[in-house]
Amino acid sequence: MIRLEQVSRTFQGRRGTVEALRGIDLDVREGEFVAIVGRSGCGKSTLLRIVAGLLEPSAGRVMVDGTPVTRPRRDIAMVFQRPALLPWRSVLDNVLLPVEMFGWKRSAHRDRAIALLEMVGLGGFEKRLPHELSGGMQQRVSLCRSLIGQPRVMLMDEPFSALDALTREELSGELQRIHMELEATTLFVTHSIDEAVLLADRVVVLSPRPGRIQRVVDVNIPRPRTLGRNEHQEEVARCSAELHELLMAKAAVPVPTDVT
Ligand SMILES: Nc1ncnc2c1ncn2[C@@H]1O[C@H](COP(=O)(O)OP(=O)(O)OP(=O)(O)O)[C@@H](O)[C@H]1O
Ligand SMILES: [Mg+2]
Repeated sequence: MIRLEQVSRTFQGRRGTVEALRGIDLDVREGEFVAIVGRSGCGKSTLLRIVAGLLEPSAGRVMVDGTPVTRPRRDIAMVFQRPALLPWRSVLDNVLLPVEMFGWKRSAHRDRAIALLEMVGLGGFEKRLPHELSGGMQQRVSLCRSLIGQPRVMLMDEPFSALDALTREELSGELQRIHMELEATTLFVTHSIDEAVLLADRVVVLSPRPGRIQRVVDVNIPRPRTLGRNEHQEEVARCSAELHELLMAKAAVPVPTDVT
């Protein structure tokens, strides 16, 4: 469904060239949920923006559903860290924004928008304005907005990282349910190992400077998964430990021994 072939990206900065990504090869199956983890600055957002068609790779190419991605597409939706709702529009009108932008028929999508809001626990909030909602509720609205066009591909860049821990856990549970129901192919960037192990079929670990695929960890745990007590805790612990080791290995800074 999503295929990255030798994707590289460099940026020209004032202090010279930054090699953000080098030689990324990745195949994501239809309906698969792939998490991307890695230290700050290792190129996760750059990778997502390239798949979204918001940024061109310096080399290599990205195919979605057999066609190269060269610009943003209607079948690819992106969710960012902050909800970015339009403050003067109601919850419902925010969810329907893509419908207007793409010139679809509003009446044809209204019921679906209401059903999506219902699904994320925001039934009855259609007429509210964003500032009347909590951060978690706003991010739910933004999730509905990304789902309104029934995207086949969902790209999510740390969508829950601005939320408190419990809201975050609640929303990742909701995302799991949505994914099980709608089966959109998903690339999900996160700093949270728990979130990655809860949600993903595979976790891609990127190493920094240049950003390369260090390892791909399979998560073979049946869904629905939970962060609470469950019969697969051994496998959860194994995956989490492996990811911890991979991520922390890069943090080891050699301690100078001959300093006096
Ligand atoms: N527009 C840009 N111009 C110059 N350099 C950039 C640009 N965008 C990203 N970079 C550089 O590319 C590298 C990767 O950045 P990116 O934002 O993809 O990292 P990230 O993994 O998403 O980090 P974080 O976890 O902090 O969000 C960084 O070194 C960053 O400084
Ligand atoms: Mg980022």
